[in-house]
Amino acid sequence: LSAQQENTAGASTRSTADTQATEIVVLYGSQTGNAESVAELASDRAKARGFNVRLLDMADTGKKTFKVPLNLMVVVSTQGDGDPPDTAESFHELMHTRKAPKLDDQTRFSVLALGDSSYEHFCQTGRDFDARLEALGAQRIHERVDCDTDFDEDAERWIESVLDRYAELYDTQAAASAGPTTVVDTTPQANHSKKHPFHAEVLESIELNGRGSDKETRHIELSLEGSGLRFEPGDAIGVVPQNDPAYVDELLDTLRLDGNADLGEGRLLRDALLHEFEVTTLTRPFLEHWAEVSDAAELRRLMDQESRDELRNWVEGRHIIDVIEHFPVKEIDAHTFTQALRKLPPRLYSIASSYEAAPDEVHLTVGVVRYESHGRSRGGVATTYLADRVQPGDTVPIYVDRNKNFKLPHDDDTPIIMVGPGTGIAPFRAFLQEREERDAKGRNWLFFGDRRFRSDFLYQAEMLQWRKQGLLTHLDVAFSRDQQEKVYVQHRIREHAAEVFHWLQEGAHFYVCGDGERMAKDVHDALLDVIRTEGNYDEDGAREYLRELQQAKRYQRDVY
Ligand code: 2AM
Repeated sequence: LSAQQENTAGASTRSTADTQATEIVVLYGSQTGNAESVAELASDRAKARGFNVRLLDMADTGKKTFKVPLNLMVVVSTQGDGDPPDTAESFHELMHTRKAPKLDDQTRFSVLALGDSSYEHFCQTGRDFDARLEALGAQRIHERVDCDTDFDEDAERWIESVLDRYAELYDTQAAASAGPTTVVDTTPQANHSKKHPFHAEVLESIELNGRGSDKETRHIELSLEGSGLRFEPGDAIGVVPQNDPAYVDELLDTLRLDGNADLGEGRLLRDALLHEFEVTTLTRPFLEHWAEVSDAAELRRLMDQESRDELRNWVEGRHIIDVIEHFPVKEIDAHTFTQALRKLPPRLYSIASSYEAAPDEVHLTVGVVRYESHGRSRGGVATTYLADRVQPGDTVPIYVDRNKNFKLPHDDDTPIIMVGPGTGIAPFRAFLQEREERDAKGRNWLFFGDRRFRSDFLYQAEMLQWRKQGLLTHLDVAFSRDQQEKVYVQHRIREHAAEVFHWLQEGAHFYVCGDGERMAKDVHDALLDVIRTEGNYDEDGAREYLRELQQAKRYQRDVY
């Protein structure tokens, strides 16, 4: 008998209370699905060891009545400024109010925090839950683990050792790990995934902005022929990029390192810097490492807790090359340099086409990042890779990254409102292609914005055609730099407050895609105003209305 079979047989003779006590609840809060897939993996592994397991989305914890389960594995990601995922916001808030449930040491928990160490508030939401559960009286049975962008292996280790702890505590047959020992990729998709991407041929790469624009947005079409990859509107493509060879050579020169230096396992330094490591973005672990190896007093001082603000300013607009130039080392070997580099994370792009409309292709809308700072020209790793370093005929390693939190309504008759300025238009092109292909009867309303009508109206011909055909009931545009005062999508939303509210009352879903730092927040505020003024709610009432929309998955965001 395997551990699982033995345990299942035993479970049937136990009392219900007993069963509850050994039930593990994997509670997750996820924005794009990473935390969710780790939670699914944790749940599978716990089941394989014979535990009763329940997978629970923070979005579905209900309200004040929520009873915190006894055995908790919490998996939660953090957004940009240290915020929880949209779907976890209510639960996060509830747990931090005075209405939060009092717990005792019967409640046992451990937290896995997903995040990005290039952000100041790295893994903040996970830290919040970890501290709060303890403060409420629960017992931490395993240290919190904070994962960086390359989370698979750390997540795997956390799952196994937390389950070891539960197995000890409940002295179950499950003590021996029944799970596979190999690292399981958490993004399965046909035979292609983050670790085994599909090499997609570039079919087209077209500049979307017209002459005179100060933006550079590319429409890229990739072939999926023979890949077996499928996707739905709202999903993203993960691109596994290569670093800029010119930048890598500059790094090697500055460090006086030989690109042919051996990193072990047959890896050469230059190849590893091109394909394996992130060599631009600064992270706290890299800065700490560099403070040590350079022994620069100034950098050491900047890393002190009291220098937080100063460090933030100094890091702004700077990359790894700036740090090693500024704080030189006499001599360094390849291994010591690469030690504190993290793996080059894939970059996600919202898919701009519909599988139903074109199953052998996938389209992306890429805003190319180029700027000057501290006397140096810089570029985004993946965007310049796609714009400058691959041409039609070349291949790009990709995989499909599902996003369950950004989906068309199941019912084709449901109206939708889409707000997508700039490259935020991408998933809505997919939504519209899909609805056209399915002959969906629901009304569609798009708010689009960019700098100038003449040069920056992305996919103008298609959008106007769709409006003419009636697929788009309304198309409202905001060109911010065509007149003296700024006009943004949220201004258009406010201008149409009555009708926007009317659509919501009729069951419309509301989608926002694009900049998360300012635009999404401003649109959120505009939406609150619309609800307040048109629905006669006070501020709390409007917030509650929006929260309910969110819970019902009728308010969805894909922001970056
Ligand atoms: P701007 O660059 O003229 O400020 C797509 O990038 C469009 O979003 C641009 O027209 C840009 O305007 C606009 N934009 C900038 N900040 C915004 C905000 N806070 N809310 C909505 N749109 C914004």
